[in-house]
This record gives sequence, structure tokens and C-alpha cells, in this order.
Amino acid sequence: MTQKRIVIAIDGHSSCGKSTLAKSLARALGYIYIDSGAMYRAVTLYALRKGWIVNGQTNNKKILGGLSDIRITFQWDEAAGKNTTFLNGENVEEEIRKLEVSQNVSPISTLAEVRHEMVKQQRANGLKKGIVMDGRDIGTVVFPDAELKIFMTATPEIRAQRRYNELIEKGTEVNFQEILRNVEDRDAMDSTREISPLKIADDALILDNSHLTREEQLLWSLDRFNERTGNNES
Ligand code: DC
Repeated sequence: MTQKRIVIAIDGHSSCGKSTLAKSLARALGYIYIDSGAMYRAVTLYALRKGWIVNGQTNNKKILGGLSDIRITFQWDEAAGKNTTFLNGENVEEEIRKLEVSQNVSPISTLAEVRHEMVKQQRANGLKKGIVMDGRDIGTVVFPDAELKIFMTATPEIRAQRRYNELIEKGTEVNFQEILRNVEDRDAMDSTREISPLKIADDALILDNSHLTREEQLLWSLDRFNERTGNNES
């Protein structure tokens, strides 16, 4: 019998490992993985390069006018075992993770037109099911009918430490307090913005991974997947 393919929505706070879980779930199930945050980051990078964000001030008119010139695509990099984000054909995977982009992405993601365009592209990716998408509004706005919704969280200190380690490993000079402030600021902005704020969908399952390993959170999620799809009734 062919296995039922579903949509898996993973939302939650920033830097709590949503993409790590989403990627490993997609790999385990043979699903497609889409990182919706990377899309907002790519728009932010585009605007920064154009000089449309200066000292945290966004030129919204320019950004909205330039939206139709932004094409975001993903390619699975088998060797690296990760998705690579392309902005108008250029590999920007590394650049969109830098602190300058992280510091400017929240205001960009509050713009209604930007969200409208991203959600349109995200829904198009989900038409065939068999997809794992992570973000902030996947279970509430993008795919309200997703068969499995997971809301991830962890303490701000643990999340900041993880992001700090990640950046240090890449050789980026960073300050822990600055990262922690960025994590807390983004939580506040993501949760209080007017359009599509980060909130727990009524039918989401909460996963606090503060003290879980990657393997433990994957096993927990696969168990929930099997419950939802009835694959454990053998
Ligand atoms: O998951 P991330 O940290 O890469 O996301 C980057 C930013 O994009 C984050 O500050 C919130 C925003 N975002 C959003 O508003 N909606 C999404 N579906 C995904 C991310």
C-alpha cells in the first residue's frame, strides 16, 4: 500500500532547531524540505545590497517595488546534506545566515506585501504534499490544514548558545550577549507583529527541545507522524 503523503508544518521560536528537525524528518520520510525563513532572509539580503535598509530603517516603497525582481529557489546539496538557497540564481546560503541579515529580517517579514508574495510561493510548493516546511506561520496561515503541526521552543539562553556555537564554528566573530539580545528581540517582534504573528495553532503539538538531542526530537516527531498517518498499525 502506498504510504499517505502529508504536509508537516513546523513553527516556533528562532534558533531552536526547526530547520534541523525539518531536514532530518524530510530525509527520513523522503519528503521535500522548504525553509520559509530563508525566503524572508533572501528578501532582506536583496534589500540590504540595494541600500534599501540603512541603520535598521527600511525603505518600504523601494522594497515593495522591487519584490517582483526577486526569485528565490532551493536546491538540495547532496554532498553537504542540506538545502541551498538561491537568490536570482546566486547561491546565498552562507550570506543569509550572517548577523546583519538576522538583525534586519524581522522588520522585512512584517511587510504585508512581502508576506503575501512569500506565502503564495510557499503554498505552490505544498500542492503535491510530501513536504516539511518550517517557519512562524506555516501551521496557522500557510497550511492551516496541515496533517501534522509541531510548535518548537527552547529557553532563549539555550537557543542563543546554539546559534553562537554555529557562528563560531564558521569562523564568524560574535558576542554571546549580542546573539542573546537578537534572539529575544526576534521573539518579541515575531510574536507581536500585526500580520501572521508567531502563535501556537490550536491543533499543534508542542516540542520543547531544551534538553533533547537531535535524535530524540526526530524519534518523537516520527512517532507523531506515525500516529497521524496510521503507519504504526502494523
Ligand atoms: O527561521 P529564521 O530565523 O531563518 O527566520 C528568519 C526571520 O523570518 C524570522 O525573524 C521570522 C521571519 N519568518 C517569518 O516571519 N515567517 C516565516 N514563515 C519564517 C520566518
